[in-house]
Formats: sequence, structure tokens, C-alpha cells
Amino acid sequence: MAYVERSTVVITGASSGIGRALALEMARRGHALGLTARRMPLLERLRDELHAAHGSDLPVELTTLDVCQTDSVGPTLHALFERLGGVDTIVVNAGANDITHLGGGTLAKEINLIQTNLIGAMATIDAAAEHFLRRGKGHIVGISSLAALQPIATQAAYCASKAGFSMYLKAARLELRRHGIVISDILPGYIKTDIVDGVDIGKLPFAVSTERAARELADLIGKRVKFGVVPAFPWKLLLPLFGHLPERFSRY
Ligand SMILES: NC(=O)c1ccc[n+]([C@@H]2O[C@H](COP(=O)([O-])OP(=O)(O)OC[C@H]3O[C@@H](n4cnc5c(N)ncnc54)[C@H](OP(=O)(O)O)[C@@H]3O)[C@@H](O)[C@H]2O)c1
Repeated sequence: MAYVERSTVVITGASSGIGRALALEMARRGHALGLTARRMPLLERLRDELHAAHGSDLPVELTTLDVCQTDSVGPTLHALFERLGGVDTIVVNAGANDITHLGGGTLAKEINLIQTNLIGAMATIDAAAEHFLRRGKGHIVGISSLAALQPIATQAAYCASKAGFSMYLKAARLELRRHGIVISDILPGYIKTDIVDGVDIGKLPFAVSTERAARELADLIGKRVKFGVVPAFPWKLLLPLFGHLPERFSRY
């Protein structure tokens, strides 16, 4: 697709899954990229792939970032924003999931989910908001989950982290909109990635490929929507039922 305007997009959690596919899609649409994750070799492989497909003139900057190292998130991201010469959009995508069992010795896993998906995302947004306030514009895209709306057994902390994240985004919008900062809250359904150890997401209802998710996500980002679900079909139609869906729709 020919690009109308090259903007600069930072994607956290770009080493695999949705973040990786979104980086490929955004590059195809002509955007300059800043990519972060803990696994630098995977980011380097992705950068090589992007340059092979689009030429080495395409700006792609990489940074190692562990969003659980809260104190280093701001400095690391500000250094990346500077290397990119300013950023227009940040996709707060880095996230984790795990099967957890209440009373079953998995509290440490649950704490890690809150630390990564909620506190890590807050630290990322805080750094981006500072950058965007200085520029007087910017777009923050949060990759939450339909699990923010629907309780799931063995996913209590994951659901809580995403419900907290979506609410954080809503309140952040009220605070930042008068400064020209747009906030999108995007809720994916089942996307075929390896996010949950030992779970084949492809077998879950209405699961789609990362490529399809990335295309829909890039369209929603381009439209600067307040709220979106991916894939739109059938989840958008089912939204009024969320919170009341039968367990088989929301089970790992
Ligand atoms: N797949 C689904 O069905 C689905 C559904 C709803 C929402 N989501 C959300 O979509 C986002 C992407 O998930 P995915 O399915 O693409 O899973 P994934 O393939 O496991 O990707 C997760 C990404 O987050 C990064 N990450 C994890 N922990 C991190 C940390 N502490 N610091 C920095 N980066 C970290 C990982 O990179 P490193 O390991 O290299 O750091 C990886 O790039 C997550 O927020 C997830 O909750 C996924």
C-alpha cells in the first residue's frame, strides 16, 4: 500500500506475535519504526527482514527494554524517541499471559502479570505522555484484551491487568486530550501467538493469524479510533454479551 504520510511509530513487545506482525505491516505502509523488547536478537532479525523488504533507508531503531524494570523505562524510551527524531505514535503492546490457579502456588506469576501488563504499560505511557506533551501532539495505542470485559477462569490476574489497563487508558484520555494527545484502547480477541505456554490459541473460538490482526490493527491506528476490537468480526457483534458469555468462549 502506498503511504500517504510517513509517521514514526514505536512498538513495544515487537520481538514476536502481534507486535512483530504490526511492525511488518506498519513498515509496509511506509512508517518509520522504533522497536523494543527484551530479546534483542529477535529484534535484529526483524530489522534485517524490514530492510530487505523495504530498503535500508527505512528508519528502524531498536532498543532493549524490560517494562518490569520500571525505573529504566522512561530513560530508555526517551533515548529511543531522541534517536528517532521524535515520535508520533506509540503502541503499548508488550505483555505476558500465563495460566494461574488461585490457591495453587501461582501468586508470583500473577504479580508478574500485573507488573508487566499494567505497571509496565503505565510506565511506558508516562514516558510517551511526557514526550507528546512537549510536542503538543501524539497518539497512544494500548493493546488491552477482550479479557478486560469478560472474566476467565485461570486468568484472574490477566483479566485484572487488562481491565486495569483499559480503565487507565480511559482516564488518561480525559487528562491528555486537551493537549492534542489521542488515546486508542484496542481489545484483541484470540490471535495465534505463543503468548500462553502450552496453549494452542489457534484452537480457540474465532482465532486469527497475526498478519490479519496486524492489518486490522493498523487500520484502527490510522483512523485513531477511541476503541476497537480485533478481529472486528464477530467480536464487535458480541460486545453487548461480554461479561455474560458462556465459559466455553472464554476458557484456556
Ligand atoms: N494473542 C492473543 O490472543 C492476545 C489476545 C488479547 C490481547 N493480547 C495482547 O497482545 C499483546 C501481545 O501479545 P502476543 O499475543 O503477541 O504475545 P507474544 O508473542 O508473547 O508477544 C509478547 C511481546 O511482549 C514482549 N514482552 C513480554 N514481557 C515483556 C517485558 N517484561 N518487557 C518488555 N517486553 C516484554 C515480548 O518480548 P520479549 O520476550 O522479547 O521481551 C513479546 O515481544 C499483549 O499485551 C497481550 O496481552 C494478545
